Amino acid sequence: MDNAMEPPAGRGDRVLVTGGTGTLGHLVVPRLREAGGTVRVLSRHLREPSEGIEPVTGDLATGEGVDAAVAGAGVIVHCAGSPKGDEVKTRHLVEAATRAGARHLVYISVVGADRVPVASAIDRAMFGYFGSKLAAERAVTDSGLPWTTLRATQFHDLILMVAQQMTKLPVIPVPAGFRFQPVDAGEVAARLAELSLGPPSGLVPDFGGPRVEPLAELLRGYLRASGRRRLLVPVRLPGRAARAVRAGAHLAPERAVGRRTWEDFLAERLG
Ligand SMILES: NC(=O)c1ccc[n+]([C@@H]2O[C@H](COP(=O)([O-])OP(=O)(O)OC[C@H]3O[C@@H](n4cnc5c(N)ncnc54)[C@H](OP(=O)(O)O)[C@@H]3O)[C@@H](O)[C@H]2O)c1
Repeated sequence: MDNAMEPPAGRGDRVLVTGGTGTLGHLVVPRLREAGGTVRVLSRHLREPSEGIEPVTGDLATGEGVDAAVAGAGVIVHCAGSPKGDEVKTRHLVEAATRAGARHLVYISVVGADRVPVASAIDRAMFGYFGSKLAAERAVTDSGLPWTTLRATQFHDLILMVAQQMTKLPVIPVPAGFRFQPVDAGEVAARLAELSLGPPSGLVPDFGGPRVEPLAELLRGYLRASGRRRLLVPVRLPGRAARAVRAGAHLAPERAVGRRTWEDFLAERLG
C-alpha cells in the first residue's frame, strides 16, 4: 500500500520519538534536532530535558501516559520495541495517535517480518519476534493514519550482544546455516529521520547491511577482535521458522545499502 499522496510532514514540527533512548532511537533524535523543531522523547523512565528535547514518560505496554505523549505531535517515529509484545505496544500507540490526529506515523520493522513463518510453539519460542513485528506492521497499516514503514536487517549492536552472550561458553553451539547481514544503527537512523521528514510513503525498500555472512564467521570475527579462542559447534534448529531463516528469509541481499561493515564496527567498538 502506498499513501505518498498525503501532505509532507514539514520541517520544524514537533516530532515524537518512541524508544528515543534505545540503540536506534537515540541516534534518530539528534538527526531530527538538526532538522529543526522540538523532539519529544518517550521513555518509561524520567529524564532531564535538554535544548530542543522534551522528555515524556509513558509505557506503551500498558498505554499509560501515551495520550499525553502524542498530544501535539504531528509526526511520530516509533522506535520503541522489545523482543516480545511489540504488537501490543504499537496498538496502544496507534490508538492514541488516531485520537490525537497525527499526520505521519513512521515505523521501524525487521526484514523477514512477512517471510519468517511463526506457526508452531517451537517457531514462537525462537522466532516469535518476527510474528510480533508483522502484527505491529499491520496495526500501523490498518490504522487509517498516513504511515511509512522501513524494514532493516539486524543491527551490529544486536549481533555484538549475541556474540558476547554466546562466547561466555567454552564451546559455542552455532545454529547451522544461519547467516546475517548486520547493519549500522546510525545508517538506519539517518534513513528513518529522512523518511520522517518526508511524506508518508507506505512500505519503503528494505535497509540491509553491506554483506551477508555466516553467523559462524561473524562470531569468529568477534573472537579475533576480542583476542579469544572458542570451539564452534554447528547445531541444527528445528521448525519452519528456522528453516526460513536458513533460507535467508531475514536477509535483503538485493538491498545491501549499508556501508559500515561488521569488521569496521568491531574495530571501533572493541578498539
Ligand atoms: N536491534 C536490531 O537488530 C533491529 C533490527 C531491525 C529492527 N529493529 C527494531 O528497531 C526498534 C529499536 O530497536 P533497538 O535495538 O534500538 O531497541 P533497544 O535498544 O532495546 O531500545 C528499546 C527502546 O524501546 C523503549 N521501550 C521498550 N519497551 C517500552 C515500553 N513498554 N514503553 C515505552 N518504551 C519502551 C525503550 O525505552 P526505555 O527503556 O527508556 O523505556 C528503548 O528506548 C525495535 O522496534 C526493533 O524491533 C531492531
